[in-house]
Amino acid sequence: MFIEIRALSKSYQVGATKIYALRGLSFDLDEGKFYVVLGPSGSGKTTLLNILGGIDKPDLGRVIVGGENVTALNSKALTNYRRRKLGFVFQFYNLVNSLTVLENVLSTKYLAQDGLEPREVLETVGMWEHKDKFPFELSGGEQQRVAIARAVVKNPALMLCDEPTGALDYENAKVVLKLLENVNKKYETTIILATHNTAISRMSHKILRLRSGELVEYADNPLPIPAEEVIW
Ligand SMILES: Nc1ncnc2c1ncn2[C@@H]1O[C@H](COP(=O)(O)OP(=O)(O)OP(=O)(O)O)[C@@H](O)[C@H]1O
Ligand SMILES: [Mg+2]
Repeated sequence: MFIEIRALSKSYQVGATKIYALRGLSFDLDEGKFYVVLGPSGSGKTTLLNILGGIDKPDLGRVIVGGENVTALNSKALTNYRRRKLGFVFQFYNLVNSLTVLENVLSTKYLAQDGLEPREVLETVGMWEHKDKFPFELSGGEQQRVAIARAVVKNPALMLCDEPTGALDYENAKVVLKLLENVNKKYETTIILATHNTAISRMSHKILRLRSGELVEYADNPLPIPAEEVIW
């Protein structure tokens, strides 16, 4: 099993109240699949991705990714885990504004042990001809394509995408979904994409639906549709 999650719980203390973001999740995920985590705002999607990504710590439970017990790692080992195994894509791109497109990609490539060729990856996302531009010279959709290239160039075992289309218009959102589909197929990268957009889940191999921090649906999608057929 590539990812094993057992009895995962996370709460946040806000003043006098305790907020339960995740309430005892347990599930397994296979390598090389495209997963969509669905759920309304506040259901725990980001919390789950952050714990999987070693950015946040659970109160209880265990997370194993590729044989590595993420919940038992110290902060140095966690940094290594993030650098070597993971690619992140966020809603608001998170590019380094003072670096060009190519430099942005090089800056994550060097973190990985067996990264891909920056040129190949930038060509895959259709941004090679923009390689010398700075992020402020790009549209939102173009910035997100560079953000995907930064994640993909590391050839990560796992890509965590938190609302990657959340800030994009329909056309650009579709381009990003198509790219992620392509990355999943071409590099067999396991992708976990969090969204509140139900339509997107139709392209996944499995749907994980969260409600108030609980897993209320864990269903195979026997006929994932191509990204271009996802409409909303
Ligand atoms: N750092 C934090 N401090 C306090 N509460 C938090 C923190 N992070 C998340 N929460 C709370 O935990 C719950 C789950 O939040 P989370 O961000 O995981 O939801 P989400 O499904 O990603 O929502 P959205 O679709 O709005 O991004 C919410 O009630 C949220 O307010
Ligand atoms: Mg979120």
